[in-house]
Amino acid sequence: MTIHQRGASEPLAARLEELLQERFGASLPVDRDLDGLAELVRIAGHRVHRRFLPRPVAPDLLRLLCACALSAPSKSDLQQADMLIVRDKDKQRAIAALIADMPWIADAPAFLVFLADGRRLPLIARLRDKPFPNDHLDLFFNATVDSALVLATFLRAAAAVGLGCCPISAIRDHAQTVSDMLALPERVVPLAGLCVGWPAESGGITPRLGLEATVHEDRYDSASTAEHIDAYDRRRAARRPYARQRARERFGAAAFYGWSEDKARQYAEPLRADFGAFVRRKGFRLD
Ligand SMILES: Cc1cc2nc3c(=O)[nH]c(=O)nc-3n(C[C@H](O)[C@H](O)[C@H](O)COP(=O)(O)O)c2cc1C
Repeated sequence: MTIHQRGASEPLAARLEELLQERFGASLPVDRDLDGLAELVRIAGHRVHRRFLPRPVAPDLLRLLCACALSAPSKSDLQQADMLIVRDKDKQRAIAALIADMPWIADAPAFLVFLADGRRLPLIARLRDKPFPNDHLDLFFNATVDSALVLATFLRAAAAVGLGCCPISAIRDHAQTVSDMLALPERVVPLAGLCVGWPAESGGITPRLGLEATVHEDRYDSASTAEHIDAYDRRRAARRPYARQRARERFGAAAFYGWSEDKARQYAEPLRADFGAFVRRKGFRLD
């Protein structure tokens, strides 16, 4: 690395350390000579965006980002992820109307749906006159993983050009309706929607569980999970306290309301319990 490049990487390395400190509450030393620091800064600085400027996202740019996203790795090169661009604003508004508490869906200059496609592979077997003895859970799982990789890669591509995104798994609360609206065939199911636009505000870093909780070495370490969660709750509350407590009428007001209290309350309600039935109805076999 030249002296000039090294000079340029100083602030990037410092910025990366700062972002990781904010995210994980720990200092991770960053080698100033590392290549790709600008990309790591962008990845570490990820944040969801739910407010957008009233400025369109050019169709060509969206297509370019789709191409970059679909360059993600694919299990066995099976290519089981598809993307659907909702260009019809009436359709986007109809999807938004299903999810009243997320007005950012209607406001988003662009809206996409990421699909897990388990249709193409069995079709190829038929086209090539071959047996297909793999109609089981793995077909659904592989397609879902591919689709998630494409979604994550789209987020990175969008961030690289300055766009902001918000994935919307809430469309799966209305999986059958969305599937009908988008004419999804057998064995094609929605993974998530995605709001895309030019951010109206910079947004903020959401702290994550400490690496001691989520990065295991040689064997899964379950010894101190509760302590790790407590420590994270306190670190996160100090930086980003919740504005309101969920389901107060059911659980009362907590003296300390941390992430784990919020997630425990969120998942004390049955959520999307009919999704398995929907996936089966779409023709996936999950055994
Ligand atoms: C698969 C997936 C589905 C999500 N679904 C929704 C959603 O339905 N509505 C929403 O407002 N945010 C949704 N989000 C955004 C998350 O709430 C957000 O990523 C999380 O709070 C962490 O914030 P961060 O992305 O800024 O780190 C989703 C994120 C992912 C990855």
